[in-house]
Amino acid sequence: MNRVNLVVGLQWGDEGKGKIVDHLAQNHDFVCRFGGGHNAGHTIVVDGKKYALHLMPSGVLNPKAKNIIGNGVVLSPSNFIKEMEQFKNLEGRLFISDKAHLLLPYHALIDQAKERLKGDKAIGTTGKGIGPAYVDKVARVGHRVGELLDVEELSSKIVNYFSHTKPIFDAMGIDTPTREELLEELSHYRDILKPYITDTTKLIWSVIDEGRSVLLEGAQGTMLDIDHGTYPFVTSSTTISAGACLGLGLSPKDIGDVTGIAKAYCTRVGNGPFPSEDLGADGNRLREQGHEFGTTTGRPRRCGWFDVVALKHAVRINGVDRISLMKLDVLDGFEKIKVCIAYDIDGKRVDYVPYDLEGAKPIYKEFKGWKSTKGVREFKDLPQTAKDYIESLEEMVGCRIGIISTSPEREDTIIR
Ligand code: IMP
Repeated sequence: MNRVNLVVGLQWGDEGKGKIVDHLAQNHDFVCRFGGGHNAGHTIVVDGKKYALHLMPSGVLNPKAKNIIGNGVVLSPSNFIKEMEQFKNLEGRLFISDKAHLLLPYHALIDQAKERLKGDKAIGTTGKGIGPAYVDKVARVGHRVGELLDVEELSSKIVNYFSHTKPIFDAMGIDTPTREELLEELSHYRDILKPYITDTTKLIWSVIDEGRSVLLEGAQGTMLDIDHGTYPFVTSSTTISAGACLGLGLSPKDIGDVTGIAKAYCTRVGNGPFPSEDLGADGNRLREQGHEFGTTTGRPRRCGWFDVVALKHAVRINGVDRISLMKLDVLDGFEKIKVCIAYDIDGKRVDYVPYDLEGAKPIYKEFKGWKSTKGVREFKDLPQTAKDYIESLEEMVGCRIGIISTSPEREDTIIR
């Protein structure tokens, strides 16, 4: 049976999935996104040129690969159309599920208004409207991409929805568009997106049946999963492996090899618990050396040390076969490198991810640092202390580290 390969983030997102997906996309016929929206941001460097992808599957950078945006995605037409402009000849190479949900400008306005109203309890969302778009989907008042094919009907439905929800919009200080404005906006989206809208479930089944290779590209990370992350400080989609089935119409039996992506340290954007966060000089140094500023919002990322407990949780929940350890070179020059091996919660040692991570203090193990790993392409050429670090992580997490990245460049990758 032909099985598909899956790449998922094991931490709080921004693990560097883009580079690995880009690498793997060279050997796959199809690359598919299954969840999230333009809150995601993959930066890929090819031949020194930087591409910031948000909704577009990373297969777009392999001229031979085709790309699917699955039904689990919330798609902002305006943002996606801007992203499409970076690439030529997408027809026949890009397929958007008619069942994906539309993320419209009012979703972003609701997201921002809700965050404002929450004050210091804010989640720290990307403000892109992801939560409100998924809320509408689950509340069964959302609109699917397929509805763009009849914009007259779609505009009427949305205006009708506005008429029922007017007091809520008024309370949030949000002006809603008129039917004419909507019609114009939606017609523009339809004119551009129509050639790409299709039944991607049928498409992916036939691609699998034909024995072609398929790569599924996760967005965000396990600790941001709506069910299994640090709720409520999470995103609104299923970011773990299971989300790939939901978001593309696959069965668990379709999933083959799972590659989990983790950075050699940890970062998080937005609020919520992050036990191994380093608020001192080391955290700042990680941010500077790792250029840890969001590709989507430009926000400085919170930085800290590798968290073995969270990683073990992520490896189990995603069924990870091999870990890809990213940005090892960012640890270059540190004299000591810390790793969180357990949490201290109210004086109790905890070695699993509990119901609530708030207040969990890290219990660290220290490793000796190294001078430089930048650009190393063979495991044998790494400094001994870097090899020790990697092998200890493997042992503690209980999963093989099969890929190691030593710079943003495509070629600076160790495959073991
Ligand atoms: P939302 O997805 O915009 O609703 O944001 C919810 C939380 O997920 C916030 O803490 C965001 O910073 C975080 N988040 C969403 N997408 C990403 C991502 O691609 N990388 C890292 N964090 C993300």
